[in-house]
Amino acid sequence: MIAITGASGHLGKATLEFLLSKTNPESLVAIVRDPQKVSDFADKGVSVRQGDYTDKASLLASLAGVDTLLLISSAALGDERVQQHRNVIDAAKEAGVKHLFYTSAPNPSPTALFTPAIDHFNTENLITASGLTYTIFRNNLYLDVLPMVIGDATQSGKLHYPAGDGKASFVLRTDIAEALANALTSEGHHNKVYDIGATTSWSFSDITASLSHNGKTVEYIDILGSAYETELVKHLPPIVAKIFAGMAEGIKQGEFDVPSNSLQQLLGREPVSLDTYLKSL
Ligand SMILES: NC(=O)c1ccc[n+]([C@@H]2O[C@H](COP(=O)([O-])OP(=O)(O)OC[C@H]3O[C@@H](n4cnc5c(N)ncnc54)[C@H](OP(=O)(O)O)[C@@H]3O)[C@@H](O)[C@H]2O)c1
Repeated sequence: MIAITGASGHLGKATLEFLLSKTNPESLVAIVRDPQKVSDFADKGVSVRQGDYTDKASLLASLAGVDTLLLISSAALGDERVQQHRNVIDAAKEAGVKHLFYTSAPNPSPTALFTPAIDHFNTENLITASGLTYTIFRNNLYLDVLPMVIGDATQSGKLHYPAGDGKASFVLRTDIAEALANALTSEGHHNKVYDIGATTSWSFSDITASLSHNGKTVEYIDILGSAYETELVKHLPPIVAKIFAGMAEGIKQGEFDVPSNSLQQLLGREPVSLDTYLKSL
């Protein structure tokens, strides 16, 4: 049986949908905090089990009979997030899971400017130390988060962002989901770490070039990271503002510039490009 944690989230639901097109629902387990959220999958025959990252006993019970587990990283932050992942990894080991998949980030490191990548570094270490067979998807930035960054730039004609000439290998979330479903149902992924992103990387000048169509022109204006963070804290909790500012600085310094063929190979086609995505908005 294949189980997915975070099955009520965007990536989890999309992965389950792709899995349902490849395998029978009786072999799938959706692990969620709130089973109501995935009642549509229960209706399709998927086994829905309650499991909370903060409650190891619930995770252990939810993993009975599971051979392959996809741990979708938690939305918590820092040590709390790593502890939640530790609970899943320990429960997986105890429950006899044979193969653990994990959604990480590019260039996980204890000194990452994009601080969630520090949690991913610590989690990857827990996974490799666990002795479980693993497959790690180091997912690049979702194209799907770009509209939030772009804001009203297509109306104002100006996109203010502090990423300099830095690039990211942006990726569509549903492309990741399809690749996960393909990998979860095929052989050859034992103890592999995949950089999951586009085969090329794009800068914010490339983003504004893609937005400049249908008679509109959008200009990229590189601003100071400190000014960006000051603006963000007017609307967001300081800790969240710091993460977004760190993401911009991480892009500027190349943390997300990781072009790779892995996703293309897992999909058997070219991933959706930045230009195609932005022109579809
Ligand atoms: N690469 C990127 O650009 C990017 C962007 C955003 C996030 N991420 C990371 O990728 C992950 C998946 O992305 P996504 O878009 O699917 O995020 P999402 O829609 O926010 O889904 C997060 C999932 O985690 C579950 N979850 C959170 N805390 C939990 C807990 N204590 N116990 C059990 N489940 C818990 C949520 O359950 P509920 O439905 O109960 O809340 C939800 O199913 C995120 O969690 C985050 O770590 C990556």
